[in-house]
Amino acid sequence: MITDFKNQNTPIDIEIVRGKIEASGVPSIGNGTIREIVKIVNEIQQASGQKFIRMEMGVPGLSPPEVGINGEMEALKSGVASKYPMLEGILPLKKEASRFIKMFMDVDVPQECCIPTVGSMQGGYATFMMLGNLDERKNTILFLDPGFPVQKQQMNVLGQKYEAFDVYNHRGDKLEAKLESFCSKGNISGILYSNPNNPSWICFTDDELQTIAKIADKYDIIVIEDLAYFAMDFRKDLSMPGKPPFQATIARYTENYILLISSSKAFSYAGQRVGILAISPELYERRYPCLKERFGSDRFGYTLIYKILYSFSSGTSHSAQYGLAAMLKAANDGEFNFVESVRVYGERAVAIKALFKDAGFDIVYSMDLDEELGDGFYFTVSFTGMTGAELVERLLYYGISAIALSGTGSEREGMRVCMSQIGSDEFDTLKVRLEQFGRDYSD
Ligand SMILES: Cc1ncc(COP(=O)(O)O)c(C=O)c1O
Repeated sequence: MITDFKNQNTPIDIEIVRGKIEASGVPSIGNGTIREIVKIVNEIQQASGQKFIRMEMGVPGLSPPEVGINGEMEALKSGVASKYPMLEGILPLKKEASRFIKMFMDVDVPQECCIPTVGSMQGGYATFMMLGNLDERKNTILFLDPGFPVQKQQMNVLGQKYEAFDVYNHRGDKLEAKLESFCSKGNISGILYSNPNNPSWICFTDDELQTIAKIADKYDIIVIEDLAYFAMDFRKDLSMPGKPPFQATIARYTENYILLISSSKAFSYAGQRVGILAISPELYERRYPCLKERFGSDRFGYTLIYKILYSFSSGTSHSAQYGLAAMLKAANDGEFNFVESVRVYGERAVAIKALFKDAGFDIVYSMDLDEELGDGFYFTVSFTGMTGAELVERLLYYGISAIALSGTGSEREGMRVCMSQIGSDEFDTLKVRLEQFGRDYSD
């Protein structure tokens, strides 16, 4: 716990913050998980009566779309709440999910291969479990970091192995050699990345996706493409159904893929816990003898749905599936521009980045290959002379909450800043607090 302060007169009462950090029992609050930070900030706010500028959790700060709510309400009124949903998903959702992938990615995935899950969290968990049981020699998943910390927690819960590297210094032409160095050992079953990336917001190019696909094909590895921020690379207009440019995807370059499409951020639907897991049709049909031994069936798609997802939660909330189906249909039909409704995150990022920079902070992941990083849901900052954990802990005294990069597999010191919960009415307070921090800690 930090005990030396440059200025005791911090925006939030120093004794209250110190007391709550101590009482939390977390060995290093700066390295705390998202939910640990959420908890302590709630407590400090309550004790101090002061509001934090909250940047720790990627909870959507926007209202859920009307079309989703109406779809869900109609389904509830028609009585779906009393009925178990089919494990493979309701037909309207499967149909619209397949159309959505065609319209916004220009890729053909049959509706049979589009399966609802309880958020991408469950889709990822089920995928990790599948991949851990396909081939005895391949017992490890490779994470292209920095990444979403909870996915590694899922691996730990499953007792499965993973390897990881920070991809930032191995982009473009350097990516192939780095992937080779891991994958040629023969133990890698899957490669996972998010695109756009949480937390750095870098976006893989088509060339890089081709490289990943090439390695995946060479070593028979399944690529898990986590599209939690679907179409949210706002540098391009990815919002027009059936028209290029499309969301970049590995699915164009290999048959060895699983796509995780979340409704949480792009559709502001996090509370309903519904997402789509899309499997390449070739992989869906593929047979693995190892699966038969453990689960009694050898087909990939069948086992994933009727053995794994069945055992997790017996399907995905019936009404939420109707809500998502309605949103996807409206997007596919060109009646609902879902990208437009979340573009505000990018606008916030421009303003908030400027406030951090003016106060003396640096952007950690500042470049996207040779372009400047885009503005989206997250960016990352550092402060000279401080580790990310120290920065996170010290900023608690200034009424600003975030998570350190240490938990994300980053090789760099710094913290992740999330745009979602910061309203423009808070920019002035943020500016004042950051400026004081900058003054207090710059030598
Ligand atoms: C990279 C990434 N993957 C997955 C998820 C979880 O998505 P869902 O809410 O659909 O479970 C998140 C949520 O923050 C994320 O950032």
